[in-house]
Amino acid sequence: MRVLGIESSCDETGIAIYDDELGILSHQLYSQVKLHADYGGVVPELASRDHVRKTLPLIQAALAEAACAPQQIDGIAYTAGPGLVGALLVGATIGRSLAMAWGKPAVAVHHMEGHLLAPMLEEQVPAFPFIALLVSGGHTLLVQVDGIGRYQILGESIDDAAGEAFDKTAKLLGLDYPGGAALARLAEQGTPGRFVFPRPMTDRPGLDFSFSGLKTFAANTIRSEGQDEQTRADIAHAFQSAVVDTLAIKCKRALKQTGLKRLVIAGGVSANRQLRQQLQQMMQELKGEVFYPRPEYCTDNGAMIAYAGLQRLKAGQTVGLAIEVQPRWSLEALPPV
Ligand code: KG4
Ligand code: ZN
Repeated sequence: MRVLGIESSCDETGIAIYDDELGILSHQLYSQVKLHADYGGVVPELASRDHVRKTLPLIQAALAEAACAPQQIDGIAYTAGPGLVGALLVGATIGRSLAMAWGKPAVAVHHMEGHLLAPMLEEQVPAFPFIALLVSGGHTLLVQVDGIGRYQILGESIDDAAGEAFDKTAKLLGLDYPGGAALARLAEQGTPGRFVFPRPMTDRPGLDFSFSGLKTFAANTIRSEGQDEQTRADIAHAFQSAVVDTLAIKCKRALKQTGLKRLVIAGGVSANRQLRQQLQQMMQELKGEVFYPRPEYCTDNGAMIAYAGLQRLKAGQTVGLAIEVQPRWSLEALPPV
């Protein structure tokens, strides 16, 4: 079985073809980062217009890369939420219409389920049940995963998402949007221990997160300590360590609470090297295992949507011709497979 996946929920147009016997056959991505950088954040209207321009050419390129004719596609999966409504509507409209034209079924995919299942595209796949830490620009979620569509949210951010905190702090440090990866690079030059940031909400029980205070802490430190290059790197290091420690503490708590030994990390921030290293070390100590996607499947991409779509297509969970998207959509609302 073979599925074409379309991702357009935010500022990346991602198209991929996944075959359940052969794996990923093609993977095309266009990032709008440059388009939004001047504005310091994603401009929804511009994002929609750019998805309109890029989606069909990328679909054509993905078919060519896979040497695959439309008749060989068994279904089309598109991200139906959560995300920017206009951006979602572009992928949904093109995906649903192409499926109708090709006489194939269409599947509406939850963006965070795509992230959550992205490690399944790797050689070592996690067995159910496991704990998933989903850290992206829009979400920070700790989820107990008992199977596909069997999700229980154990904790989430009560304010900024982890990626959002990275981006806002990066902006304070003078880095371009989205600054998460650039902040991580700056942090590598930082002096460990020169500044120590708080680990929010770790001193009380519970699995929720709060990251907005860290950004304020960074702003105050920048103001009081000046902004020479080394100080900026030291602040980046202190910020990153605080986020990574906080995420690790909550993961450990979730594993202990559930008695599970497998941890999945996914979403854009899971590309962060320090986070991967620290969680890997922690899981070694706990005699458990950690799984994460390769970096290009951590951030938004079509491959994870094609994979999730194929699982739902196999279960017969297709959608009709009335095109619908869900800008807000809980993972817990998904049906099991
Ligand atoms: O999953 P994603 O591509 O898009 C959303 O669904 O939001 O995540 C994007 C987020 C951005 O906030 C970006 O700054 C962050 O992931 N990010 C990183 C790294 N790479 C991307 N944050 C920290 N370290 C990184 N290496
Ligand atoms: Zn995402």
